[in-house]
Amino acid sequence: MQQRYQKNYNNPNTRIRKNSVNDILTLKKKGEKIAVLTAYDYSTSLICDKAGLDILLVGDSAGMVMLGYKSTMPVGIGEMLVFCKGVVTGTKRAMVVVDMPFGSYQPSPAAAIKNAIRFIKVGCDAVKLEGGAELVDTIKALVSVGIPVMGHIGLKPQTSSLWEGYKVQGKTKDSSVKLIAEARALERAGVFSIVLEMVTSEVATIISKNLSVPVIGIGSGSGCDGQVLVLHDMLGIYEDIRPKFVKRYADLSNSIFQAVSRYRADVKSVKFPEEQNFFHMNSNEYQELKKNTRKK
Ligand code: KIV
Repeated sequence: MQQRYQKNYNNPNTRIRKNSVNDILTLKKKGEKIAVLTAYDYSTSLICDKAGLDILLVGDSAGMVMLGYKSTMPVGIGEMLVFCKGVVTGTKRAMVVVDMPFGSYQPSPAAAIKNAIRFIKVGCDAVKLEGGAELVDTIKALVSVGIPVMGHIGLKPQTSSLWEGYKVQGKTKDSSVKLIAEARALERAGVFSIVLEMVTSEVATIISKNLSVPVIGIGSGSGCDGQVLVLHDMLGIYEDIRPKFVKRYADLSNSIFQAVSRYRADVKSVKFPEEQNFFHMNSNEYQELKKNTRKK
């Protein structure tokens, strides 16, 4: 069934309002699950926004998916700003959250504010930081100058690759108690929501039930207040890594491959372009032109 907001989406008389922090908090209060996907460009953001996603995340996974880096670690502010500009331009309704890249918030709260402002100035609505208790002062500083912050605990891809690799978090009682304490510390510091990555569903459910801010899970089970996936994973475009927690909603890699191969064959065999794909001159003008260009 087509939703009302989708039908009216392109109607210039319908005023579409951006989701605010309050709107996201209200979704949790109402018990409505929060739907989030990553986005890195204008064209896909238009589609995601029209489909009614609550939040679009300009994830630093862009470094891997869009730039081919081996991890999210190398991506820089300049690169993330370009992705943000595309997403912000393509978004009327969803809240746009950006991942602050590694190195842009760790040095000091002042550095985090300075760099976060660059993202807010291009139109992002909030920033996301990976980390737990060590970020409390930074989160407080950002919130104090009016910048909404999303936390990210559990698996932290920016640094996990340097330590234990990509592993499920919260498998033991002790590690789970630590995770729950981290989530509480982030909430007290002022985050408006938290991403929980690859955390056992038992612990993710406890955290979601115990916090008043929404918990957005990725690979953390159905007890979270919302879900996020990498767009290119769920569309089946990015194939370098295929995590177990991704549900594939399309096989675009194969569709794009088929389409590009057909295009190539059509160009080689002059089946493309066809009559309807090109333009003609007025025939008199053409006759005149031919006379003019006849070899002397
Ligand atoms: O960068 C990203 O895509 C993310 C998601 C995995 C939550 O942080």
